Amino acid sequence: MGKLEDIVSLCKRRGFIFPGSDIYGGMAGTWDFGPLGVMLKRNIMQSWWHFWVDQRDDMYGVDAAILMNPRTWIASGHVDTFNDPLVECKACHGRFRADKLVDGATESITTEEFLKANVKCPTCGKTDWGEVKKFNMMFTTHVGPVADDGSIAYLRPETAQGIFTNYKNVVDTIYPDIPFGIAQQGKAFRNEISPRDFILRDRECTQMEIEYFVKPDQWEEAFEQMRALQHVFLEEQMGLPVDKIHDYEVPAEDRAHYSKRTIDMMFDYPNGEEELMGLAYRTDFDLGNIQRESGKSMEYRDKNTGETFVPHVIEPSIGLERLFLAIVSSAYWQDGDRVVLRLPENLAPYKFCVSPLLKNKPELVEKAQEVYKLLKDKYTFVTWDDSGNIGKRYKKQDEIGTPKCVVVDFDTLEDDSVTVRDRDTTEQERVKISEL
Ligand code: GAP
Repeated sequence: MGKLEDIVSLCKRRGFIFPGSDIYGGMAGTWDFGPLGVMLKRNIMQSWWHFWVDQRDDMYGVDAAILMNPRTWIASGHVDTFNDPLVECKACHGRFRADKLVDGATESITTEEFLKANVKCPTCGKTDWGEVKKFNMMFTTHVGPVADDGSIAYLRPETAQGIFTNYKNVVDTIYPDIPFGIAQQGKAFRNEISPRDFILRDRECTQMEIEYFVKPDQWEEAFEQMRALQHVFLEEQMGLPVDKIHDYEVPAEDRAHYSKRTIDMMFDYPNGEEELMGLAYRTDFDLGNIQRESGKSMEYRDKNTGETFVPHVIEPSIGLERLFLAIVSSAYWQDGDRVVLRLPENLAPYKFCVSPLLKNKPELVEKAQEVYKLLKDKYTFVTWDDSGNIGKRYKKQDEIGTPKCVVVDFDTLEDDSVTVRDRDTTEQERVKISEL
C-alpha cells in the first residue's frame, strides 16, 4: 500500500483525479475524474450494478432526480437531525468538527465535554473556543426565479430517499415479491465542515445504495445475508484484501437517527482505518415517515398470504470515492522507482496496450496497428502507445494498471507471434496473434 501523497501524485500525474476547479485555485471537497479515473470509476460502478442488480432476480434500479420536494427531507429527519458538531476558534476563526479534535468523541459531543478536553486549535494553537453548535450539512438552493423561504430546495445528502419515494411506484408497476431491493447510484452532497484525506471525505460524492425491503420479522436474517455478500463483493469483485476490512458494530449513541443496527465496514486506508461503507437496519422509519407526510399508504400486500404490512429495510450504502481510494491504495505497489497499480483485471482501465517495438519502422507500425484493431474489436478497452522507448511505455502502463503489454517486433512479421508482458511479474512470453 502506498502513502496517501504517493497516491494523490499518481492520480494527478496519470490523469485519474484532479482537484476540482483546479484552474481557479480549487474548490475544497470537490474532485474531477480525468480520462483514466472515469474508466476506473465506471468499471467499479458497472461491476457493482452487475453484481447487485443484473445478476439477481430480486433487485430493481431507479435513477431519481437530485432535486426533490423539500418535504422529503423534513419527513426523513434530515432537516432536523443531519448535523455535525461545529466549533469555532475565537482567536483565528477557524472552524472544525468538534468530535474530530477530541480522541474517542462522538458526534453528540457537548460544549462541556469539548472544553474539558483542552484541545489546541490546529491552526493557531490557542485554546479560545466558542460553543459546540449543530451544523446542518445539507446544501440549500432555491428553485425558480424567487429566492425566498418558499423556494428552498436541498441537494440530496443521500441517494436513499430517491429510492424510498419511488418504493410505491416500483411496487405498483413491477409487483415484486418480498423480499426485494431497489438500487440507485448517483451524486450526493454534504457540506462537510472539514473535507479531508483526498477523496475520502468530499462535499460532492457518488453513492451506490440499496434499500432491501423485507418482512418485519425477517430483518435479522436479511441483514446477515447482506453483510456476508458485501464481503464477497468487496473481496472477490473489487479485489480488496480481506485483512484490511473490519466490521465495526456501531453503538446505539453513534448510529444515524434512522438506524436500529449499523455495521460500518472499515478499511485500512493509507492514513489509518476509516469507514468504507455502512450496512444499516432502517426499520420502517422511512416508509412510515413518507406514509405520514404524504398521507399515502406504504403497505405491501403479500400475494401469497394476503398479509399487509409496511416493509422493513436493510440498507447497504457505499461511496464510490471511498471504494475507489481503497482499490487504488491497495493496488499501489512500489519497488524503488518502479510503481505498479496492481488493479484487478475487471477494473483496470485498459486490458491491453499495443506497441510497435520501434516507431520509425513502418512495417512494424502497420502490423502493430493490425493487432491493435483486432484487440480493440475484441476487448474494447485497449490502448495504443508508441511514445518514447519500450521501457518508458512499460513504466507508464504499469502505473495505470494495464495488465498486459503486447509488443510487435521483427519476428512478428515472420511468425505472427507477439511478445506479451505481464504487469505484475514483468515476465514476457511469445503468443500467436490468433491466441490473444
Ligand atoms: N443512506 C445512508 C447514508 O448515506 P452514510 O453513512 O452517511 O449513510 C454512506 O453514508 C456511505 O457514503 C459512507 O459509508 C461513505 O462510503 C459514503 N460517504 C458519506 N459521506 C461521504 C463524504 N462526505 N465523502 C465521501 N463519501 C461519503
